[in-house]
Amino acid sequence: MRHLMSPLDLTVKELDQILDLANDIEANPQKYAHACEGKKLATLFYEPSTRTRLSFEAAMLNLGGSVLGFSSADSSSAAKGESVSDTIRVISCYADIAAIRHPKEGAPLVASLKSGIPVINAGDGGHQHPTQTLTDLLTIRSMKGRLDNITIGLCGDLKFGRTVHSLINALVRYPNVRFVLISPEELRIPDYVREDVLRKNHQEFKEVIRLEDALPELDLLYMTRVQKERFFNEEDYVRMKDFYILDKQKMELAPKDMYVLHPLPRVNEISVEVDDDPRAAYFKQVQYGVYVRMALILTLLEVKVC
Ligand code: NCD
Repeated sequence: MRHLMSPLDLTVKELDQILDLANDIEANPQKYAHACEGKKLATLFYEPSTRTRLSFEAAMLNLGGSVLGFSSADSSSAAKGESVSDTIRVISCYADIAAIRHPKEGAPLVASLKSGIPVINAGDGGHQHPTQTLTDLLTIRSMKGRLDNITIGLCGDLKFGRTVHSLINALVRYPNVRFVLISPEELRIPDYVREDVLRKNHQEFKEVIRLEDALPELDLLYMTRVQKERFFNEEDYVRMKDFYILDKQKMELAPKDMYVLHPLPRVNEISVEVDDDPRAAYFKQVQYGVYVRMALILTLLEVKVC
């Protein structure tokens, strides 16, 4: 039985196969409409979510399966003190596969050790978010036609942003990917990502503060929100929250084929006036998230569709 805790749990070949499957699902949705009939997905969300939980549920429904679950810790037995290990043992009796989001780093991994069904990490604290990464990879590959030979700018809260950590983990495995890490001093990428992921894989990267300086050289810009819920005090958050605002004027500095991605939710970091720019890819990215989660569910449940 396989779980997905980090993008590194999949080889590059497996990743590419999931993206290929997602493309086939996009082109032929009817072919997959009954693939998971009789199967159930449990979504166990101990932290707020709109896209991740609902896109998992939409993915399973599109495959002809059913869904059950909870969307906050308060409405589950966690409020009574039940451990994630006990919860997953129970859920294993009800469902065939589970997606877990938790504010504590490593909680989905702990659950997977006691699980009788495949567990997917749907975001654990400031650590990893592998299914957002699958979404991002599918978006990049669809928009740019490749995952290698790109210069990607990652902008915003690089310290707490788990989507950024997971995406870097995945992209360092493709040849000639250049990273431009754009953040204020206080929200720089954690040392473990800089040393153990970027340096260890000999990938070219630089760290800059001004978005304007980076824009002209980028193939892709990945914007992120300042992660309010992971700050220790409100004052620091308020000081940081509007550090970057991508607007029409800044977009003029960017190449004509530089796509803008964002895992969403957006707060202020992308002005709504950018939404009409043909380079704004963040709402397309949401649609790709459904196809790729369908592909992942089929892969982990080992369902073959001919
Ligand atoms: C992200 C997350 O939960 O980490 N959202 C998502 O799943 N699309 C990004 C965020 O919350 O900023």
